Amino acid sequence: MGMDHPQWEMYSSSKHGVRHSLKQSGILPEQAAAPTCQTCHMPEGNHEVRTAWGFLAVRLPMPEDEQWAADRATILQALGVLDPQGNPTARLEVVKGADMARLTQEDWQAERERMIQMCERCHSANLVQTELRKGDEMIREADRLLAEAIRIVAALYRDGALRKPAHYAYNYPDLLAFHDAPTVIEQKLFKMHLEHRMRAFQGTFHNNPDYALWYGWSEMLQDLTEIKALAQELRRGSR
Ligand code: HEC
Ligand code: HEC
Repeated sequence: MGMDHPQWEMYSSSKHGVRHSLKQSGILPEQAAAPTCQTCHMPEGNHEVRTAWGFLAVRLPMPEDEQWAADRATILQALGVLDPQGNPTARLEVVKGADMARLTQEDWQAERERMIQMCERCHSANLVQTELRKGDEMIREADRLLAEAIRIVAALYRDGALRKPAHYAYNYPDLLAFHDAPTVIEQKLFKMHLEHRMRAFQGTFHNNPDYALWYGWSEMLQDLTEIKALAQELRRGSR
């Protein structure tokens, strides 16, 4: 369904997942602790899988960190929930209606507390805080790279090196155009966002440094380098 979402791979090669499979094969005893997807995401059979950061890892309010706030604003513009001037669009209402993101601090905090309580069934409060903070910080760092890439593509639109496709609402890159992204550079941007940034932060939250670094962070760095090179080519071509 849709793009490959490798939470299973992240989980199964993490310490939690390896312990679970050792239990299943009888190497670890039945009572050994090993959380599964359900333990963390559907405690007490609650099927409403809702997380603090959600699938897209954007939320409101804006962070206090000024650089991060600027980067998130750029990402919200490329998601089309803010227009290129920074005003809310009709798409923001769609996101609200679909419960795709937490839109208040209280809402985010409630989901975070739920997760913390669950981790604390097995770990100290200290470890849990530290580990979840790593996930938050990975989002901040990934946003840094993604926002830089978005600004490069946005500048190509602004300077006429790229032309607004008919299906675009604005003369600005659209991360939700998905594979219909009209140019190779925007397809790179699309993958950087939905595939590599997603692996970077979800790999971190699933305690899998290999995924977070190699399939996430490192790929994002390569995407950014390629986007810079493609932008130079497009500018040369449009002169
Ligand atoms: C040890 C607990 C734990 C286990 C086990 C776990 N996850 Fe997660 N998962 C998390 C945490 C923590 C987050 C990030 C929460 C946040 O946003 O603060 C997360 C985020 C996610 C997200 C992205 C956010 C969203 O709302 O879409 C998905 C999807 C996901 N997990 C699926 C899975 C699947 C599928 C499995 C099993 C293969 C799994 N998780 C196993 C803790 C866990
Ligand atoms: C059902 C019990 C259980 C739950 C719930 C649980 N864990 Fe664990 N976790 C373990 C066990 C057991 C280990 C292995 C400990 C060891 O090897 O020393 C572990 C290991 C870890 C590690 C070390 C990973 C590594 O590669 O060294 C981290 C980080 C971690 N857990 C974070 C979390 C976080 C964050 C949550 C909540 C989102 C969570 N855990 C939920 C049982 C649990």
